[in-house]
Amino acid sequence: MKEFRGKVAVVTGAASGIGRALALRCAAENMQVVVADIEESALGRVETELKDSGANTLAVLTDVSNAEDVETLARKTLERFGAVHLLCNNAGIGAGSTAWESTLKDWEWTLGVNLWGVIHGLRAFVPAMLEQDSESHIVNTASVAGLISFHLNAPYQVSKHAVVGLSEKLHYDLEARAAKVKVSVLCPGWVRTRIMDSHRNRPAELENDPAEVEITPEMMDAVEGYRQACESGIPPEKVLSLTSSYESGWRPCCRAVIRCRLKN
Ligand code: NAI
Repeated sequence: MKEFRGKVAVVTGAASGIGRALALRCAAENMQVVVADIEESALGRVETELKDSGANTLAVLTDVSNAEDVETLARKTLERFGAVHLLCNNAGIGAGSTAWESTLKDWEWTLGVNLWGVIHGLRAFVPAMLEQDSESHIVNTASVAGLISFHLNAPYQVSKHAVVGLSEKLHYDLEARAAKVKVSVLCPGWVRTRIMDSHRNRPAELENDPAEVEITPEMMDAVEGYRQACESGIPPEKVLSLTSSYESGWRPCCRAVIRCRLKN
């Protein structure tokens, strides 16, 4: 997709971090922007920012782990703008610990948002993107943790590997149909966002029972290490302009994979 002016973008997880940066960038490219997030007050603030910048904007309170919510997001987008040209399945959270100590609720919450959120996005939007038969693009936010394994939370890492695999499968399925819908999978290293405060959006029914979780000093150290890495990560706006250089602590392995582009 080379022409952005007047086209319609949908960004999930748009109220903070990378999603907010994507939404503002779309507005700067003179696109019409639909922003979706589970955090109502922060979503309202981004909606105001976008409107103040002059963008034609729609904000839809959405839990991406809920299929009906995402279908409603697609319906409202099409009702208001009649098309979707750029879909950014970006909402994500981090939770859990090792593969065996993460609780069922850690797995359920993380896979629900990070993987099912993308699946729901594809099921809700791709049929309309195929039908409109114009150039369009899907960007799924995975992570460098979806390409190589780190000492990171197991549910997060598994969800991101799945998003990379899903994006590749999507690419080949669309190519087989000679569709005008193209796919990218975004794989950043550490970015300075609120990902380490993901817990703010954890649904009450998926909270861990404190009796079930043993928080060891090693785990506390690991979390503190992630927090520091995140705080020294690149600013979210920079993710959108990076091509080959990379400036956070994981430079050597990330340089090659900062943006894993499929054939477009
Ligand atoms: P963030 O916490 O600043 O933003 C995430 C947004 O997703 C928030 O606005 C949050 O309210 C929203 N969200 C959470 N659960 C949701 C749900 N169920 N439905 C709808 N929205 C929901 O974090 P960040 O870093 O901007 O995260 C965006 C994406 O980038 C995520 O997929 C994350 O895994 C990915 N990522 C982040 C990296 C980092 O270092 N910050 C590195 C690699 C990937």
